[in-house]
Amino acid sequence: MIFSIEDDAPIVRDLLPDWRARFGAAGGRLELEIGCGHGGFALGFARAFPDRALVGIEQRRKFAAELAAKGARRGLPNLLVLNGDARLLAPRLFAAGSLAAIHVHFPDPWWKRRHHRRRLVDDRMSALLLGLLAPGGVLDFRTDVERYAREAVVRLEEAGFRNAAGPGRFAEAAPDEIPSTRERRYLASGEPVWRLRLLK
Ligand SMILES: C[S@@+](CC[C@H](N)C(=O)[O-])C[C@H]1O[C@@H](n2cnc3c(N)ncnc32)[C@H](O)[C@@H]1O
Repeated sequence: MIFSIEDDAPIVRDLLPDWRARFGAAGGRLELEIGCGHGGFALGFARAFPDRALVGIEQRRKFAAELAAKGARRGLPNLLVLNGDARLLAPRLFAAGSLAAIHVHFPDPWWKRRHHRRRLVDDRMSALLLGLLAPGGVLDFRTDVERYAREAVVRLEEAGFRNAAGPGRFAEAAPDEIPSTRERRYLASGEPVWRLRLLK
């Protein structure tokens, strides 16, 4: 399904989707991926965990359409891909405290100072992500950009996330971790990936 939100539409809490009705039992454990790209994580996750549901929000229409088509071809009823800006869509799609996990993998680093405001993990987004997670819910953040990782860990901890690895520290790859499309490249080349697994 492709769903777009073009402008900063108001949040109408009564119109939040009924995810249990959409996904059945899998909707009882609802997770969100922001910026799925070519969808290596989303497709792998939906196949590996049929008892969980994943909503992927991807800003680029072409990527979202291709991933939605792949999910449909592979018969993955627990995956829904939406096209739009997660910063606008997420608070309009999910009730506060309703997500078991949020996955953000290799967000665009936006190197230039004047582009920093486009970065996904800013103060506003950190507070939004924390608010959407259920108590005990996990933020799974991965990046290949060390500086982004170091700034993100400080910002996210300041927003109220608990870092099980210890303040300012990075996590090891979990044994059952599903790699994203981009991450597969780094796993093959041995280039470093900085991981955060932060808890609400
Ligand atoms: C560098 S790619 C990484 C893709 C994928 N996560 C991976 O690891 O292979 C970043 C992706 O995030 C998407 N993106 C950037 N900002 C976004 C936003 N605000 N909402 C949804 N998607 C976003 C981009 O379109 C792009 O597909």
